[in-house]
Amino acid sequence: MIRKICCIGAGYVGTPTMAVIALKCPNIKITVVDSNRSRIDAWNSSNTNDFPVKEPGLDDIIKVVRNKNLFFSSDTEKHIDESEMIFLAVNTPTKKEGKGKGFAADLTNIDQCAKQIAIVSSSNKIIVEKSTLPVRTAERLKEIINKHKQDDVSFEIISNPEFLAEGTAIRDLFKSDRVLIGSDQTDEGLAAMESLVNIYKNWIPRERIIKTNIWSSELSKLASNAMLAQRISSINSLSALTEKTEAKINELSVAVGKDHRIGDKFLNVSPGFGGSCFKKDILNLVYICRQYGLEEVAEYWYQVVKINDYQRKRIFNIINSSLVELKNKRISILGWSFKKDTNDTRESSSIPISSDLIINGASLKIYDPLADKKQIIQDLTTYLESKNLDLKEIKSLLNQVKINNTLSECLSNSNAIIVLTEWDEFKQIDWQNFKLNIVDAVLPHIFDTRNILDIELLKSLEYKVFQIGNGDSNIK
Ligand code: UDX
Ligand code: UDX
Repeated sequence: MIRKICCIGAGYVGTPTMAVIALKCPNIKITVVDSNRSRIDAWNSSNTNDFPVKEPGLDDIIKVVRNKNLFFSSDTEKHIDESEMIFLAVNTPTKKEGKGKGFAADLTNIDQCAKQIAIVSSSNKIIVEKSTLPVRTAERLKEIINKHKQDDVSFEIISNPEFLAEGTAIRDLFKSDRVLIGSDQTDEGLAAMESLVNIYKNWIPRERIIKTNIWSSELSKLASNAMLAQRISSINSLSALTEKTEAKINELSVAVGKDHRIGDKFLNVSPGFGGSCFKKDILNLVYICRQYGLEEVAEYWYQVVKINDYQRKRIFNIINSSLVELKNKRISILGWSFKKDTNDTRESSSIPISSDLIINGASLKIYDPLADKKQIIQDLTTYLESKNLDLKEIKSLLNQVKINNTLSECLSNSNAIIVLTEWDEFKQIDWQNFKLNIVDAVLPHIFDTRNILDIELLKSLEYKVFQIGNGDSNIK
């Protein structure tokens, strides 16, 4: 029976997952550690507004379990050594340099954790891979651990990928479609797997706990994300065709999704998928396929990412041509996070689309209910740097950007309004009232890249409006 858990990584995955385990398993003491001390301090703050991850329902759970059986600490070594089970929930970004640059997962964080665990552990441990990892990473972990461990200490590595989606993390953790656990098929491996099953069975029905070999488990996570992203690229690619043929993509999604073999989820058009996982995991899959000489398979999956980039460029081009000239145009950007109900902005489509707008001379007003202002500027800076612009040019481009505290400030006095994240707040905008307050009687063009606005109402109010894949748009 596991009594003490340590989780390395207090991020979007580590903290919600550990908070729910702590709630469901009051007899287990869990400590979340992180190499970033300020993150730990933020999780220990008495003010929930300081928490670094905003996730519906998370604050309430933390209020109940924190300092009872859930702890946040910077004393990594102590808590590794004290625990019987260690979760690895550190980030695994795409490699920026070296072999596999731009495709392979950067496993530096994972390697460092493995080495640290091996060095400081004076008793046997089960290591749980929570981070998304390339297939056969467990083999690499074993090598690192065996090189550095004390002779009389043994380790079992199991894989337990996390399938939660941000914005619904707590709901997903409470009611997971499945929990996947992979282990070596040895007596020790199967025993380690059972000890994790015993934790999950406190709230997950047995039939939803899937047990596999460790390689299937590692690869299933990459495959799941690739297939989810593939659906989005499929519907987004078709949106380009429905715009040309006067079909409506939302009607297509409903009609196609009614076939139970296809299903109705993940068929919403968008300005392209964002988030920390989809692009990174597909590029990683592409890299792995190439390593095994499977060039056709690699190319097939790579196309999912290419269509995502195409969708972003397509949207920029539509805005650009409808406004005729972007120079000196004032544009309102509604939404910066990669989806609603999260403050996470990683890989958000708002970043490339907004950057292209300012590079072409537009001035932006940006509003997002949760995204941090400094993060927005950081996102733009990083993107512009990747376009090889120098610091002086970037500084000058950032002068074209203002970040607003309220939606009404952001909406006022604009030539165009672009909805990029599907926040509920944007669905409530009173367009009639808004029109009455426009002084110079020139209505802004509206670009709804999430298809959440009432296009018929907007057209009846004489707005020029574009929705993705909607043949009824009066901006083409
Ligand atoms: C997770 C997964 O673990 C990743 O593999 C998956 O593909 C995406 O989701 P996430 O929780 O979103 O990552 O990442 P992040 O919010 O960046 O949290 C990771 C945390 O690990 C950070 O707080 C970072 O400071 C910490 N970290 C990183 C360590 O504590 N030690 C390290 O060596 C590296
Ligand atoms: C994803 C997976 O869903 C989750 O199982 C995995 O553990 C981590 O990666 P996440 O990235 O947090 O989760 O959010 P998700 O809801 O999958 O959305 C990803 C992106 O796809 C968002 O930008 C979202 O707006 C977009 N999306 C989603 C669409 O464009 N259309 C859809 O129909 C659904």
